[in-house]
Amino acid sequence: MTRPIVIDCDPGHDDAIALLLALASPELKLLGVTTVHGNQTLEKTTQNAIRVLELAGRSDIPVAAGADRPLTRELTVAAHVHGESGLDGPSLPPATGTPLGEHAVDFLERTVAASERPVTLIPTGPLTNVALLLERTGGANVERIVLMGGAIAEGNMTPAAEFNIWADPEAAQSVFHSGLDVTMVGLDVTHRAVTTPAIQERLRGVGRIGTFVADLVDFFSVYHAQTYGWEGAPIHDAVAAAHVIDGELMTTLHRNVEVELESELCRGRTVVDRWLRTERPPNAHVGIELDTSGFFDLLVERIGRLG
Ligand code: BDR
Ligand code: CA
Repeated sequence: MTRPIVIDCDPGHDDAIALLLALASPELKLLGVTTVHGNQTLEKTTQNAIRVLELAGRSDIPVAAGADRPLTRELTVAAHVHGESGLDGPSLPPATGTPLGEHAVDFLERTVAASERPVTLIPTGPLTNVALLLERTGGANVERIVLMGGAIAEGNMTPAAEFNIWADPEAAQSVFHSGLDVTMVGLDVTHRAVTTPAIQERLRGVGRIGTFVADLVDFFSVYHAQTYGWEGAPIHDAVAAAHVIDGELMTTLHRNVEVELESELCRGRTVVDRWLRTERPPNAHVGIELDTSGFFDLLVERIGRLG
């Protein structure tokens, strides 16, 4: 059974790896890629999405550029993690193709409506485009949303908040309150998807695209070595794609998630009622545990298929 998906992203090292994983996986049919501000400006994340698709020989996949800023907050980019291009590290030629002349939200509306099977959305950046889509369509013909973002425990942008949710908390709150089937793949699980030197070696051993992924990870690891003292990097966004490919890799709990919008200190914190301390109804499947070796086995094997 092939699931139609759209990845809404801000490439970004781990977004790029999520795109490659999806392209390599027969369980998924990538209907298109939509881009959003986030790790870098919209212009750069859009160029990067096209560059990655071209590297994989998949310039047939349409790319539509979306929101260049959050719904109400100021734009902040994560150049301190992903560099000036948003995809610093490996040498990657500039894009030759161009994005569609259609806004990402128009593309999403049209593509989701036209799909025979309900579509799974995999947002791996700030949720601005997705919130705008849901405001417009109420999520008609969306099967589920599997988003990378949030954390039950500590954040990474601030002590309290994860970057994607922090960047546009109002958009995130509207997604969690959409009434749709939402899965939160947060730092609690993605910080278990940290590469090791042995995984890097395996990636380099599977071919040209594997080497590209390992080069991305080398750059992405610099920030994580400085910040956490790790030997590798967490491939956050690919965990969301992997969960759609194989639902056994991550365990979830159905819980209430609220996004903090008022506080300056806790802006964008995902308040997850893991231990059922309130009467608030569950609105998301929250990632709790990850089968780390299963995740990396899948990633290496699939990237190897791209040659
Ligand atoms: C998320 O923020 C970005 O830096 C990554 O691409 C990922 O989507 C992790 O907090
Ligand atoms: Ca991302």
